Amino acid sequence: MSSRIALVTGGTGGIGTAIVQRLVREGHRVATNYRDAAKAEAWRARMAEAGVPVTLVAGDVSRPDSSVDMARAVEKILGGPIEILVNNAGITRDTTFHKMSYQQWMDVVNTNLNACFNVTRPVIESMRERKWGRIVQISSINGQKGQYGQANYAAAKAGMHGFTISLAQENARFGITVNTVSPGYVGTDMVMAVPEDVRAKIVAQIPVGRLGKPEEIAHAVNFFLGEEAAWITGANLAINGGHYMGW
Ligand code: CAA
Repeated sequence: MSSRIALVTGGTGGIGTAIVQRLVREGHRVATNYRDAAKAEAWRARMAEAGVPVTLVAGDVSRPDSSVDMARAVEKILGGPIEILVNNAGITRDTTFHKMSYQQWMDVVNTNLNACFNVTRPVIESMRERKWGRIVQISSINGQKGQYGQANYAAAKAGMHGFTISLAQENARFGITVNTVSPGYVGTDMVMAVPEDVRAKIVAQIPVGRLGKPEEIAHAVNFFLGEEAAWITGANLAINGGHYMGW
């Protein structure tokens, strides 16, 4: 397996941390972004203790200018162009649509969907020039099936796969694959923030009978990155314990 330069956005979060750890373990040089420097430093210390070296750069994926600076900083520190991009950063602002503010809509669309433009745009040209690249969007089961209280999130997550399948077509001849991973409910802070009674009802709908583990999502992301996956592009891999089996 070649060692590549990888940027995982939102790498300090629940699923992001597992993706970062897995990519480092696979031998890649991995960077992620942060907005809160103190929180990021504490996270980096935990990673260092676990023997996981990570490059941290400041960057707000919801902003185009900040995303360009972030991508250039990663390339400068790691000494080459970004070859693997995992658009993983995401937030929720759950509320029923009739109560949703414009800000709650925009925060989620900017961070979850517009970030795909903001972060991918500064890295795509060098991937095309070098004729190799791997791009993975972390979408969600709720982009596939919708979810009560998540009109903003489901719209953004569904949009991410529209982005994937268009980018996949445009870049297939350039050795770049573009795929989506759609996790179901994984045991992260984001899911644990759902009220306990609501969460219990959701878990009861999962045939496997439990929440997912972040490592189970990282495993799927890694699957898309190797040479053997060169013919897999425009795919959406649902990993949800059987919670949603649409096709
Ligand atoms: N289907 C139908 N009706 C529902 C419903 C559902 N799924 N959920 C709630 N309702 C009903 C309730 O029964 C209630 O009805 P009554 O007034 O008749 O009793 C009514 O809707 C109001 O519900 P709530 O009390 O829940 O309303 P609320 O305003 O307090 O909360 C909510 C709404 C914030 C959306 C809350 O229900 C919630 O947090 N839901 C979970 C949303 C969710 O799944 N988020 C996922 C976060 S994790 C993530 O996003 C990661 C990922 O990718 C999977």
